[in-house]
Amino acid sequence: MILSDDFISEIKEKNDISEIISEYVDIQRKGRNMMGLCPFHAERTASLCVYPANGSFYCFGCGVGGDVITFLRLIEHYDYIEAVKYLAERVGMSVEVSEEENLTYKKKLLIYEINRETAKFYYKCLIGKSGIKAREYLSLRGVNNNMIKRFGLGYSPNDRYSLIDYLKKRGYNVKDIMLSNLAFTSRSKKEIDRFSGRLMFPIIDVRGNVIAFGARSLSGEKPKYINTSDTLVFKKSSNLFALNFAVKSGKQNLILTEGYMDVVALHQAGFKNAVATLGTALTPFQAKLISRNVEEVILSYDADEAGQKASERAIKILKDNGLRVKIISMPNCKDPDEYLRSQGKNGAFKFSSLIEKSKNDIEFKLENLKSLCDISTSEGKIKYLTESAKILSRCKSTIEREVYALTISSEIGVSKEIISIQINKYIKQNQKNSLFKEFKNIEKSTCAFNDDINKEKRNNLRAALAEENLLSCVINNPGLANTIFSKVDENYFVTEFNKKIFICLKDIKSKGRKLDISTISSYEFSVKEVGRITKIICSYNSYMGQDEYINENISILRQEKEKNRFQNINNISETEIQNYIKKLNKS
Ligand code: CTP
Ligand code: MN
Repeated sequence: MILSDDFISEIKEKNDISEIISEYVDIQRKGRNMMGLCPFHAERTASLCVYPANGSFYCFGCGVGGDVITFLRLIEHYDYIEAVKYLAERVGMSVEVSEEENLTYKKKLLIYEINRETAKFYYKCLIGKSGIKAREYLSLRGVNNNMIKRFGLGYSPNDRYSLIDYLKKRGYNVKDIMLSNLAFTSRSKKEIDRFSGRLMFPIIDVRGNVIAFGARSLSGEKPKYINTSDTLVFKKSSNLFALNFAVKSGKQNLILTEGYMDVVALHQAGFKNAVATLGTALTPFQAKLISRNVEEVILSYDADEAGQKASERAIKILKDNGLRVKIISMPNCKDPDEYLRSQGKNGAFKFSSLIEKSKNDIEFKLENLKSLCDISTSEGKIKYLTESAKILSRCKSTIEREVYALTISSEIGVSKEIISIQINKYIKQNQKNSLFKEFKNIEKSTCAFNDDINKEKRNNLRAALAEENLLSCVINNPGLANTIFSKVDENYFVTEFNKKIFICLKDIKSKGRKLDISTISSYEFSVKEVGRITKIICSYNSYMGQDEYINENISILRQEKEKNRFQNINNISETEIQNYIKKLNKS
């Protein structure tokens, strides 16, 4: 143990978990606890529970849970030390950590530093002699010098040793350059630069760290774009290009595009809240990241079919994460960059009016649907009416539903009442489906179907529940721990997962450490396992501390253990069987 339990306890006492969590999610008091929408999965009804009394949180929907340190690790992708440091600094404490603990933290800092040096190098190359072609390319695409500076654009020279040489001269070693994913070993076993002859886009996180690069080919070489692969500090699916600028733009919304060049062009036209995904489809994590900063997204994906399909998927993810969505359509243009250029000096003005004319998600879906139905035929009308009723049934506001139903009614010549009846039918169906889903989920979790954390629970439900009751009792009543340990040992445990927790608790107690989720997390448990343990802890009720209750659970364990043993009769000696039969006759 390198950071002492006392130190961690103090940090946790000074940082109220509900205060930290409420910086990310809206949580409301419910009795002694607080509930809110879980930031780790998409949901519309609150299943994240925060327990200020024992400093933990647990999501009944996705099963994550733990203490405030775990929360920060999950939400900020911090490692353990980063999370502790963050919390310590927040309350004016300083952290002394050992070399060993500091290793990943230090490596991360080193990668940030190497990335920053690299961005400077590429920038110098762009504005220097070797960058002439790249500069010509940028000017051909209408990118001005202010944007080059703002984004710190760069050029990676053709010669495949230039970055490595430059960084080596500044004292960085090749292994660390490779760890930053800026170099790799070629087939001839030589280390070479990863990027060469490309226009470079540094990707900067909201804290201002250069975390990765995007690189566009200038020669028509394929692939058109390459990106840094995932490193210790970068995950493509968890970041957005230019989010660092968008969060500082002071706007309540942001413009989401598909490409780096779209973002550059939009910023040049004055839209400082434009961001882009990094060559992957929008992920729920990115949507969460956005929802922590703004409430509305203006979607401006490519106008081609692929872009429109991607829009539909993105709309769902954004809505699921509580964001309002508006969709821009650009007539006759591939993407925002092309649109702005095609409009010349009027670009900014024209794009503003596209934003003003942008549709909400319902209008977007209805319009797409209409383009697929030939409403001059009866068949087309029926399809349009049926499908649009489905779309409207998912719209929460009654007024909005009425307005659209009226429009459709006059378009098709069918009375609004009929359309409303159809919508209400689908609303009822949706409710039924979601109730059924909820019921299935409850059924699944109580019967431990598909329990991938404690796989044995399903077949040993009675034993597993008794085990969990005892574990919960030990952690919530450290004073009773020794009594319980004297009455029952790990051999009574039927499921391996619960047994592992029990052994861990005994170890914690024997070392005189604090019996809580933080100490437990310092043992070898995965994030999901810590979540499960939190759930077990939080299911505690005061009657569980009563002698009678404890004895009852211990006796269940004894019975179950015995039952299991006798199920495999080959393991049992003859005398044991005789004794068992005697006992059965007695009872
Ligand atoms: N992209 C990628 N890898 C590719 C192609 C594209 O990672 N081989 C990503 C890049 O982030 C790019 C975005 O997808 O910015 C959009 O790609 P695309 O629409 O093909 O290009 P444009 O943004 O139009 O690029 P440009 O304007 O530079 O031609
Ligand atoms: Mn483009």
